[in-house]
Amino acid sequence: MRVLVITGAGVSAESGIPTFRGKNGYWRNLDPAKLATPEAFANNPKLVWEWYRERRQRIRNAQPNPAHHAIVKLAAHADEFLLVTQNVDDLHLRAGLAGEKMVQIHGGIFTTRCSRCDFQFHETGRAEHEDGDLATCPECDEWMRPGVVWFGEQLDLRKIERVENYLARASCDLVIVAGTTAVFGYIIDWALRARGQDGQLIEVNPDPTPLSAFATRLIREPAGIALPRLVDELLATSHLF
Ligand code: APR
Repeated sequence: MRVLVITGAGVSAESGIPTFRGKNGYWRNLDPAKLATPEAFANNPKLVWEWYRERRQRIRNAQPNPAHHAIVKLAAHADEFLLVTQNVDDLHLRAGLAGEKMVQIHGGIFTTRCSRCDFQFHETGRAEHEDGDLATCPECDEWMRPGVVWFGEQLDLRKIERVENYLARASCDLVIVAGTTAVFGYIIDWALRARGQDGQLIEVNPDPTPLSAFATRLIREPAGIALPRLVDELLATSHLF
């Protein structure tokens, strides 16, 4: 069985991480879609860092939920497997998914990188300083920023290449898209191309999305409930596993 799974913020919702576009997504009455931009960082880097520091702390305190664990189980039984996640949290990794089986297409929240040069570091284990000063790059003195992809920014070409290489090798028997509004064209494009002519495309989301019309099966339930059941069902019934 060749599998592609695509996840978004909804998969971490049951771990207590607010989604971007949901009711709880606002932070201090600010819209994340306006904070997660190069313009917001240029105007008020301190405010944007405060938001990210809070998110980091929330993620450190969170635990992977049954949806993350179900994806690890599926990966363990598949002949070939790739997860493309839009989530910048580390919950897929902490659930036990190997780094080489996943692509964090929007980056990782625990990476801090220079706004100008390639200097970067990871700080998963470090406590945040609430009112920490803004850090500058030790190599070029530019502001350090969170290593995530903001609205209007390019995706990392090496990451695109990993996804494209996986898609190019063969089509997938199974594509699962869970917990994403699928607002980005590349997400829809990858899901549709991956399933090819014959693959299954299963959407797990309580609400409809632009991808719903193309799905071979819709599961309108929270991912933490639906995914463990779906994975067990697939493992028990599919002759491809
Ligand atoms: N289980 C499954 N899906 C859920 C759950 C749940 N428990 N709770 C909410 N959802 C669904 C919502 O119906 C919605 O479709 O998850 C989706 C969350 O959507 P967004 O907040 O838009 O998150 P996402 O699709 O990951 O956003 C994509 O946009 O903001 C940027 O870069 C950011 O990676 C993010 C990207």
